[in-house]
Amino acid sequence: MSTADQVAKRRTFAIISHPDAGKTTLTEKLLLFGGAIQLAGTVKGRKAARHATSDWMAMEQQRGISVTTSVMQFPYAERIMNLLDTPGHEDFSEDTYRTLTAVDSALMVIDAARGVEPRTIKLMEVTRLRTTPICTFINKLDRDGRPPLELLDEIEDILKIRCAPITWPIGMGRQFRGVYHLLEDKVHLYHGEDNEAGGKEETIAGLDDPRLAEIAGQDLDTLREEVELVQAAGHGFDLDEYRAGRLTPVFFGSAINNFGLQSLLDAFVEWAPPPQPREAQSRAVEPGEDKLAGFVFKIQANMDPQHRDRIAFLRLCSGRYTKGMKMRHLRAGKEIRVNDAITFMANRRGAAEDAWAGDIIGIHNHGTIAIGDCFSEGEDLRFSGIPNFAPELFQRVVLRDPLKAKALNKGVDQLCEEGATQVFRPLHNNDVILGAVGVLQFDVVAERLRTEYGVSATFEAIDVYTARWIYADDERELKRFADRNTPGVARDHGGALVYLAASRVKLDLTQERWPDIRFESVREQY
Ligand code: G4P
Repeated sequence: MSTADQVAKRRTFAIISHPDAGKTTLTEKLLLFGGAIQLAGTVKGRKAARHATSDWMAMEQQRGISVTTSVMQFPYAERIMNLLDTPGHEDFSEDTYRTLTAVDSALMVIDAARGVEPRTIKLMEVTRLRTTPICTFINKLDRDGRPPLELLDEIEDILKIRCAPITWPIGMGRQFRGVYHLLEDKVHLYHGEDNEAGGKEETIAGLDDPRLAEIAGQDLDTLREEVELVQAAGHGFDLDEYRAGRLTPVFFGSAINNFGLQSLLDAFVEWAPPPQPREAQSRAVEPGEDKLAGFVFKIQANMDPQHRDRIAFLRLCSGRYTKGMKMRHLRAGKEIRVNDAITFMANRRGAAEDAWAGDIIGIHNHGTIAIGDCFSEGEDLRFSGIPNFAPELFQRVVLRDPLKAKALNKGVDQLCEEGATQVFRPLHNNDVILGAVGVLQFDVVAERLRTEYGVSATFEAIDVYTARWIYADDERELKRFADRNTPGVARDHGGALVYLAASRVKLDLTQERWPDIRFESVREQY
């Protein structure tokens, strides 16, 4: 198969949602529908496993499948799907954000009763940094939820993306009868728990079949009115608008009952973009190019703390990986031979024989690879768009043994390169301030400092509300700012200047007072 065909088959995506909307359930159904796992039946009692470190690990415990990884590759309808995990629960971290820079599209799951929730808003903001097409699934129609028109309004208002409903629900909760497919002009009938995973849904053609009147009763009038309304006043589906991230196709259903998923998935694999060209500093890299190029978006510490072995997740942007090939680690300026890269199949984790653009391979390393690092077959290709996001939580490190300051600095710098935390060093003192987007990140850092660097440290709260990277066209202005605002100015791990604001109000005031300074909430790695 040619490289172009290999690329065209691939769909690299993430599922974004607020915790509990149904991401894990949908992931599992994707695997079932695609035939990657065979175990049928509902996933009950997952709560017990909730405290596992990731949703997928919980699923693994429940189902005995191997998914303890942040990437899953599986076949679906003659495509190769690469699903990247964006942890939703307590292990929410900067990784979640960065993972979204490595996908070509996203599936957004919304709980019909809860609508747009905070985590969804945050994740959507991140997808906006690149133009990421979004496909929407409104879940849990088997329960009473909010009126569908209201949900679409909310998505449009809050997430600032136009909605093009593809299916439309008939009733909900106990009265849920199915969905009308606007493009097919067919009604898909809902049979509660009897809908089989991957099985064909029973359909009725059009809205005029007497059987439908019998099944839907009064809900048929509502359906007719609503469909008329969305067809007249709503947005029709437009592939270009979807691919440009301006419009989202919307599907309704019940993931746990396997309903509405077939329509969603069939459309998703058709419409979602294959691997896209990526901007590097010097030029755009096309996925079909012969030579391999890629960037690291995540580093995962290995389970075994004795060996400082880490796996760097490399998203391939072009070319082909073959076992034993040589590639250049651009930041280090070194050639490495990669014999033991791993791929992440849904049902097994194994040595990668080959991989193409859109695929993720895992490379073992001992701390030499950092987030944002790029690999190529020689050309100096630095991919942009692997950002640092302004943390939302800050803690000051308190060292138990002051003689360990050197080890502490080494430890936090390395953990920072891995993306486990961000470090800020104020200009006016020797404090070490850590920033994170998820609370669990601090626990992980404390534990790893202790076990891997022999540093016993605690953290204490500090009065910082947010961080902004500061830039100015005139260096002198920047210096003047730093001098005048000393207590709040720090350098990040890469040496860039950062303003640490004590409150939202303080940030607003400072921004007003310093119009020639740019305050950025995102900093690119390069
Ligand atoms: P998440 O990964 O986004 O956090 O969500 P997850 O799939 O774990 O689903 C959260 C809860 O919502 C689970 O219930 C799950 O069974 C339920 N759920 C998912 N899809 C549907 C649906 O279509 N309809 C209904 N009614 N519920 C759905 P739980 O009680 O937290 O876990 P469990 O004990 O049922 O496994």
